[in-house]
Amino acid sequence: MKKTLLMVVALVVVLSFLLAACGGKSDGPVVGNAENGKKLYTSATLGSASAAGCSSCHNFDEAAGKNDKAPYTQGTATRAETRVAGMSAEEYIKESILNPNAYVVENYKEGDMYQNWAKELNEQQIADLVAYLLTEK
Ligand code: HEC
Repeated sequence: MKKTLLMVVALVVVLSFLLAACGGKSDGPVVGNAENGKKLYTSATLGSASAAGCSSCHNFDEAAGKNDKAPYTQGTATRAETRVAGMSAEEYIKESILNPNAYVVENYKEGDMYQNWAKELNEQQIADLVAYLLTEK
């Protein structure tokens, strides 16, 4: 009896040490998941305010429709490499989502892109979307 109790106490002590060592929350950089990003990008509504999703404006390519509402999705990663001098494709894509007016693509106007993603998406969703768009070369 006593032995069992001791074992249980020892186990609890060891487990709580392990948990403390793992720290529960990790504060490393959020790693994006492209597959999940594609699901987010193509969902009809997105974010805490259920705004119309990315692909409601961004057609994939010419075969999918016009680019009068937004640039085509296909080729985003390639264009992103050279849009802004000194910015990597990843940085540019992230900025385009969080702060769309920082660089406005030619033939579109400031404010044409939905402006509230920075408030309505969480860090993981943003990382996933960036990871996905980096695959659309
Ligand atoms: C209301 C329409 C609309 C929605 C919704 C929208 N966008 Fe856009 N997006 C635009 C327009 C217009 C531009 C080009 C003007 C600009 O640069 O702001 C653009 C530009 C971009 C660019 C830069 C493309 C390039 O060729 O440089 C990226 C990346 C992007 N959007 C990602 C997204 C993502 C991710 C979402 C969803 C979370 C989204 N957009 C939702 C309209 C939209």
